[in-house]
Amino acid sequence: MDSNKRPENMVRITTRELADKFIAEQIAAVKKQVGDKKVLLALSGGVDSSVVAALLIKAIGRQLVCVHVNHGLMRKGESEQVVKVFRDELGANLIYIDATDRFLDKLAGVADPEAKRKVIGGEFIRVFEEEARKLTGIDFLAQGTIYPDIIESDKGVKAHHNVGGLPEDLKFELVEPVKLLFKDEVRVVGSALGLPDSMVHRQPFPGPGLGVRCTGAITRDRLAALREADAILRDEFDKAGLVGKVWQYFTVVPDYRSTGVRNGGRVFDWPVIIRAVNTVDAMSATVPELDWKLLKKITDRILSEVPGVCRVLYDLSPKGPATIEWE
Ligand code: XMP
Repeated sequence: MDSNKRPENMVRITTRELADKFIAEQIAAVKKQVGDKKVLLALSGGVDSSVVAALLIKAIGRQLVCVHVNHGLMRKGESEQVVKVFRDELGANLIYIDATDRFLDKLAGVADPEAKRKVIGGEFIRVFEEEARKLTGIDFLAQGTIYPDIIESDKGVKAHHNVGGLPEDLKFELVEPVKLLFKDEVRVVGSALGLPDSMVHRQPFPGPGLGVRCTGAITRDRLAALREADAILRDEFDKAGLVGKVWQYFTVVPDYRSTGVRNGGRVFDWPVIIRAVNTVDAMSATVPELDWKLLKKITDRILSEVPGVCRVLYDLSPKGPATIEWE
């Protein structure tokens, strides 16, 4: 049987009971596969890698070595949450690497969106590789591959190996316990494993992170403004009960300034663009009609709390022709 093919009769995991059964089966399978060997996992804090980490901690405890690379392009509080949940609460063997300077130095002056993605992806592999070489006795690499990744890689849409690109001499045997699951099932399993809701229902966040929302060549001051504005937007959506109701929402800070007036003087500051979309599969998307009072509140907070910003805009463009991200 092709182990990358979901059996026709596999029941969709929709309940706590089904999740518990799946978890018990996977714990046994992982123990059998790994024995007393060590497993390495790149833990981004996204849903898939978080669920794999929680599952493997249950199965093999500290034989799992998690590496969290903070590329400096995470949202506010995200890396801290990864450390809190996995190291402090679940007792994970977690290596935290703050590679912010390394990434931002490499990105300085790089304005082209695809070039930025290449720098971020390439640097990620290098940081991860360096850590992997420091560790000894690792035989396995765990990955948060899920079924849509396998379907897409079969169709040639994308390579599904999350840490694909490691050099030949660093090849590990893969451990992919959720590879036959769809995203909704991964979330049910994550909840059953006790992960916090904010992690299990985390909205999609691109691998290059805030890097593609700080358009053009990234600067540290504009990135800081973007992170603060994004945190305000998320906080207000949370308070308005929109978490889980709007599919994806974030802010963008473009690399140009506009004229404003503050304290009786002229300023030349950045605009913040609010992006919110609803979609089923991210192939097309619509823009929700947000409550005007909410938009005003977010605007007021961003203008008063985020230094260097003098304007707030709401992007009304559906996909297509606009993509969800700005670059
Ligand atoms: P677009 O902008 O293409 O986005 O309409 C569709 C969905 O994909 C996410 N996205 C990315 N995810 N790496 C990722 O892992 C990327 O480079 C990337 N670019 C876009 C985007 O957030 C949206 O959910």
